[in-house]
Amino acid sequence: MREISGRTKTVALFGYPVEHTKSPHMQNAAFAETGIDGCYIAFSVSPGELSGAVQAIRSLGMLGVNLTIPHKEAVLPLLDEIDPEAVFIGAVNTIVNRNGRLCGYNTDGRGFMRSLAEAGIAVAGKRVFMLGAGGAARAVGYYLVQEAASLIIANRTKDKAEQLAADLDRLRPVVSVIASSDPGYAALCGEVDIVINTTSLGLKEGDALPIDSAFFNPRHTVCDLIYHRTPMLQAASSQGARIIDGSGMLLWQGALAFELWTGQPAPVDIMRKALGD
Ligand code: ATR
Repeated sequence: MREISGRTKTVALFGYPVEHTKSPHMQNAAFAETGIDGCYIAFSVSPGELSGAVQAIRSLGMLGVNLTIPHKEAVLPLLDEIDPEAVFIGAVNTIVNRNGRLCGYNTDGRGFMRSLAEAGIAVAGKRVFMLGAGGAARAVGYYLVQEAASLIIANRTKDKAEQLAADLDRLRPVVSVIASSDPGYAALCGEVDIVINTTSLGLKEGDALPIDSAFFNPRHTVCDLIYHRTPMLQAASSQGARIIDGSGMLLWQGALAFELWTGQPAPVDIMRKALGD
């Protein structure tokens, strides 16, 4: 452990709960590698304490924070400036303290795209099928829509899919919605290149698959934002599809946040190794 001195700058995670986060391990490895005199601590902040905790970023002179469940949306009105991408997503996962001005960003969507690029997967010109229409779908959809040939959204609650599709379609008109009851649903499998699960199905043992396990074929690239190899990814892999789990997104959203706080390139390989420890 590096020594903490009077000059050490602090970054924190605000969440509720935070006990299982890997971010301190990953970010402290980055501080150690770069020699930047900083440290990263996780704070369990209940919803009622969020506004006081955000004020503490200023009063304690912290470099910034990460936010996780349940604070990503609730924090918006407490900030001085919000990046346009985070405004669209309606959620902030990173705050940078610029001399007392708190600026909000969302690095999740860009992190996901970097994880795809790193795996050699180009979205440009591809037909993308996205499962889910919640906050995570909005974050990755913001980027997918800018590059994909088409983006099809399916969600349990169709109204939410339609709202997200309308918002994304305004950025680039390539978006549509499909219901699993639609007669064209089965044919989709032959028509899409990339399938992305943004729903929470697969987080817990015993969860149903977010899509029929027979859907996949070897031409598909199948991604899950969940950090581990979910049953959906296992099914896709056994049918010859290329699979990508959410661990790359976790890494890259953290690397992008590190760069926002420090203004320096993140030591990505060291951070990746820390995540795998
Ligand atoms: P996140 O920020 O992780 O995206 P969220 O905004 O609560 O979380 O969104 C969760 C997503 O998972 C939604 O698309 C949700 O579908 P609904 O809009 O119909 O709620 C989806 N989801 C969660 N549990 C589900 C389930 N049991 N079956 C199908 N979809 C589910």
